Amino acid sequence: MDLGLLAQLPSRPEPMATVAARVGVPLATAERWVRALLAQGAPLWLEQDLVWRADRVEHLKNHGLGVEVRWFEVVPSTQDVLASWAAVGAPHGAVVVARQQTAGRGRQGRSWVSPPGSGVYLSVLLRDLPVARAGLLPLAAGLAVVDATGIGQLKWPNDVLAPDGRKLAGVLAEASGAEPRRLDLRLGVGLNLRRSGLPPEAAALEEWVRHRRPEDWVRAFLACLERWLARLATPERLLDAWRTRAVWLGETVEVRQGTRCLRGVFLDVDPSGALLLRGDDGALHRCVAGEVQLRRAA
Ligand code: BTN
Repeated sequence: MDLGLLAQLPSRPEPMATVAARVGVPLATAERWVRALLAQGAPLWLEQDLVWRADRVEHLKNHGLGVEVRWFEVVPSTQDVLASWAAVGAPHGAVVVARQQTAGRGRQGRSWVSPPGSGVYLSVLLRDLPVARAGLLPLAAGLAVVDATGIGQLKWPNDVLAPDGRKLAGVLAEASGAEPRRLDLRLGVGLNLRRSGLPPEAAALEEWVRHRRPEDWVRAFLACLERWLARLATPERLLDAWRTRAVWLGETVEVRQGTRCLRGVFLDVDPSGALLLRGDDGALHRCVAGEVQLRRAA
């Protein structure tokens, strides 16, 4: 890997032509070098004619989560940067962190507002997970946010709410893999840290706890997530912890899926992370996360 060239790349998006002029080579040569670096898995990002590198790379652990963490000031979406990195061999536990996203996304095609300075946005690569356990990952991530921040309640399947019910953090799990029983998961978490730039319905951590540096929060989150992952094989403890933080358990809720709406009592979550609902029709329904939305019934 040509670390000399890597060091000359900017840490904020810059046109390739500007980079070429600074390095003193023709545009085509700069492009060839950058693509060669990318193919070697170098910590940089290329988006149309813009290029930039991670401003920091850190190794939090030799094994487990944070084996390599790439910190960016700004990316389109940490999920996409991680996907590109995974395609060139990122290891299990690889992490991408950004302070701003220009195309952050949430569940069900929604966007995730990610202005600079308001939050921290990260994606963790979890390789070779049993498919049967994948539904527990968003629950584990929610618990890890609560543990790391010391506040919050959990709304099935993916939301962390502040004590007043506004949304504090969101979790997005995206899977890939060719094996029928195992998959690779990109677990994305967006945590709101500061009020400025956020819509009124969003909560920020600074409203509830003394401000910590974003990197301290990221480290704490990864350590907590690692502890919950170690318990995936016997999920009852994880589920017990999740239940104590869950909102609307035992209450009447609505589960919406497209135009379909199921109403009933939120009974529990099962060992795969699915929601169990006693419908108003008396039947027991098992709802898997996917494209569903949970609401408290009016
Ligand atoms: C949701 O509540 O709908 C999930 C939001 C997930 C947002 C995070 S921010 C880091 C990662 N990158 C993205 O583009 N999305 C996730």
